[in-house]
Amino acid sequence: MSNNDEEMVVTPWTVSGKIDYSRLIEEFGTQPLTEALLERIRKHTGELHLQLRRGIFFSHRDLDWILDMYEAGKRFVLYTGRGPSGPVHIGHLVPWIFTKHLQDVFGAKLYFQMTDDEKFLINPEFALETATGFAYENALDVIAVGFDPNKTSIIVDTEDAEVLYKLAVTIAKRITFSTLKATFGLNDSSNIGITFFPAIQATPCFLESVLTGENVPCLIPAAIDQDPYWRVTRDVAQKLGYFKPAQIHCKFMPGLGMGGKMSASLPETAIFTTDSPEVAEKKIWNAFTGGKPTIKEQKISGGDPSVCPIYYYDYYLFEEDDVKLAEIARQCRCGELLCGEHKKILATKVKKFLVEHQKKREKAKDVLNDFLFKNHK
Ligand code: TRP
Repeated sequence: MSNNDEEMVVTPWTVSGKIDYSRLIEEFGTQPLTEALLERIRKHTGELHLQLRRGIFFSHRDLDWILDMYEAGKRFVLYTGRGPSGPVHIGHLVPWIFTKHLQDVFGAKLYFQMTDDEKFLINPEFALETATGFAYENALDVIAVGFDPNKTSIIVDTEDAEVLYKLAVTIAKRITFSTLKATFGLNDSSNIGITFFPAIQATPCFLESVLTGENVPCLIPAAIDQDPYWRVTRDVAQKLGYFKPAQIHCKFMPGLGMGGKMSASLPETAIFTTDSPEVAEKKIWNAFTGGKPTIKEQKISGGDPSVCPIYYYDYYLFEEDDVKLAEIARQCRCGELLCGEHKKILATKVKKFLVEHQKKREKAKDVLNDFLFKNHK
């Protein structure tokens, strides 16, 4: 568990400390998602998606430009991905659910990259076959989110190298080692594979343009920790004659412990999509909350939803209705809703979600091949 008093660290490979999202906007040089921009999105999507209404997606680069292009009749592609280092937990689903929403409303094609190479290179103990195995296993969760099979290509880096590599070398040639060290915190003892890898993660931004011969804008929905990749990619884009990829950044879904994002390396604080409903219920039952040490105290002075993972689960995923969500927060703050009750209500929702997701995940096995990029050539 990361401690909230620790200094904030946000890189593609480490997220710890108390996250200050406004500071990240400043440090990374991104733009906040303003009301005016949300209003523009609303014109295309009808009611704003939960994740926009609640500021879960909070920052962007060039989203206004993507909308300019779209409004002028130009299509764009979506690109997101996953580092397959283990089983998928429900925190991972947050940006995927939003990406599916964007695919639905904008009719956009999606490239989904599984970076088995990255996870192999970054984890000293990892075998390549393990990472590649998780790529296919995790793809079932991606498919279960409901992406359109006719508009979605899942790339597995080591399996699609033939297509990626040519583009990756043209990108790599234009990134210096000093840029890389400064952007990613790499040093002289980093292995040379990981120094090349950012070129691989950049390739899907331009793949549609390369494959169709038409310059197609790309929008990347992803958690903000991936931003260093896009900074480097955006610098290279123009040199290669492509549009700079645009981004929309989200926050991290908190884990069930005290502070810190949900992390697969802390299994007791993460609900995996393959957890049985009983296991998930137990994890929720053992979770940290924003409550007081005793029921008596809580009834008098109330709980604090702003630090409570149980509340955040509702906020990020499980309570769609804003009015009900506000009511939950109010009841918690005034001591009407006790943690045990709230956990029980949440556990019911989570169990239902898992049962449904697991059914879709089973069905995904039959259509996995239809989603793979290697079968689309
Ligand atoms: N590097 C990401 C990870 O470790 C995986 C990834 C590749 C990705 N391409 C992406 C994530 C595009 C978001 C958007 O999880």
